[in-house]
Amino acid sequence: MVKKSKPTPTMTIRGVRLFQGLLSREVQTEMLGQLREIARAAPFFRPVTSRGQNMSVRMTSAGTVGWISDRRGYRYETQHPDGKDWPPIPESILSVWTSVAPDAPLPDSCLINFYDPDARMGMHQDRDETDLDQPVVSISLGDEALFRIGNLTRGGKTESVWLNSGDVLVMGGPARLVYHGIDRIRPGSSQLLPDGGRINLTLRVAR
Ligand code: SIN
Ligand code: MN
Repeated sequence: MVKKSKPTPTMTIRGVRLFQGLLSREVQTEMLGQLREIARAAPFFRPVTSRGQNMSVRMTSAGTVGWISDRRGYRYETQHPDGKDWPPIPESILSVWTSVAPDAPLPDSCLINFYDPDARMGMHQDRDETDLDQPVVSISLGDEALFRIGNLTRGGKTESVWLNSGDVLVMGGPARLVYHGIDRIRPGSSQLLPDGGRINLTLRVAR
């Protein structure tokens, strides 16, 4: 269970609401165990962009649909590239969504990104979903990451914040389509993952 049923944000940056320290260490550890099971059934893979460039994160998904990128572009698919259905989204993860986005329908997709010390994520918008009125909820586990928040169009001034293990953030309402990315992670800043690294969970109503 998450700490509070109706948490208030600890910080709001450009409309992006942050709930720092929302998840207790126990909840994080429980999630990690469930994520390991998911990764056994739906192994992490390294996506390529439509231009054939390797992305630096490795990813997999849970839910009825998973976000993938390959030479054909970005999209949601009902199956892992290996041809199997994605595992269901664990309750512990769904309960974070209902806690911070109580008015939204439940997410059908949980993207699981793994960052090793050199991984990053370029500035982008999340806009492959059918209903862009539904929020995006993101959960950070493991090493700290420098999250950059831009504008509703590419470019311009940005603001950055370090995301720690157990932090949750919501991009919704007017901030649903802000550009965002991960500049770098801080290796060794968390002991949650025995071999280090960072996991980000992105929950979305995709369809
Ligand atoms: C993403 O926007 O795809 C990932 C954000 C994060 O890793 O915190
Ligand atoms: Mn994103």
